[in-house]
Amino acid sequence: MTRKASALAPSNIAFIKYWGKRNPRLNTPFGGSISMNLSEYQTTTTVQFTQLNRDEVVIDGEVAVGKEEVRVARHIDRIRSLAGVRLGAQVESRNNFPVGVGIASSASGFAALTLAATRASGLRLSQKRLSALARLGSGSACRSIPDGFVEWVTGRRDQESYAFSIHPPDYWDIRDVVVLVSTKKKSVGSSEGHALARTSPFFRARIRSLDDRLRRLKRALRERDFSAFGRLVEEEALNMHAVMLTSTPPLVYWEPGTLAVMKQVGVWRARGMESYFTLDAGPTVHVMCRAGDAEVLARRLRRIPGVIEVSVNRPAVGARVVKEDLF
Ligand code: DP6
Repeated sequence: MTRKASALAPSNIAFIKYWGKRNPRLNTPFGGSISMNLSEYQTTTTVQFTQLNRDEVVIDGEVAVGKEEVRVARHIDRIRSLAGVRLGAQVESRNNFPVGVGIASSASGFAALTLAATRASGLRLSQKRLSALARLGSGSACRSIPDGFVEWVTGRRDQESYAFSIHPPDYWDIRDVVVLVSTKKKSVGSSEGHALARTSPFFRARIRSLDDRLRRLKRALRERDFSAFGRLVEEEALNMHAVMLTSTPPLVYWEPGTLAVMKQVGVWRARGMESYFTLDAGPTVHVMCRAGDAEVLARRLRRIPGVIEVSVNRPAVGARVVKEDLF
């Protein structure tokens, strides 16, 4: 048994989104989703199995407590039982970005944890099994395991719900310009949010139309048709937020800066700067553009009142084992 291992995993932005769980225990979705790994938002995690009979989890320099600790410990339990390991785990995890503002920290976090903990326990799983296992920690984490542009297939059973790469990172030179408009931790996390999805009168209609959007998005990617891609990405983001806004209780993840950026993207587009927005479960806006437009766009975005930080992301590889340990 290896005992200690480290992994690095990217966050991802969903173009077709996962919102609502068919089986909350398994984090299986109602439909497929598609995402791109982000080059600038990553989690690094080191796991060491020790003789201690308890786990110790440190995230961004602070000992994890409460729900966060339980969620991580439960995931390590899954890996312990797969590997037949009975040791306690020492876990240290570092994000290079603020958590809880709509950049998927649970995605990169559980992807890195899954890879590091399986390796430390002596397991060497296929990418498909790693992805399905990461999904049990956080649904969107299954998409941070494979490289580049990734599809998560619905699957009803545990092993059938996993993600795989549909195009490598260098397949298409597009950018996600991530625009932070708030660093407050959101009050309703996505795990709680998922449970409300079904209370929206629009949820069924959303699920019915999902396959069609998935098909159209895959075609736009295949044809590298940026305009078709962008229109669809905006349509999908607004469709998911329509479900959020009409849930009981309603989920309003937007901040004033969110709307300011969304509106401005439309204004610039009408004037010839072609870009499109998408949003996950938070106020952060992701503006998709062609590589050649990214720097000009980033500069303009930084000037919008309410914008805190802007970063330009390339499509990136998935989770990787790294040699440098955090402790
Ligand atoms: C809006 O994967 O964070 O970002 O499975 O409960 O951990 P859990 O939820 P999570 O949900 C992500 C929701 C989303 C859309 C997406 O990434 O597809």
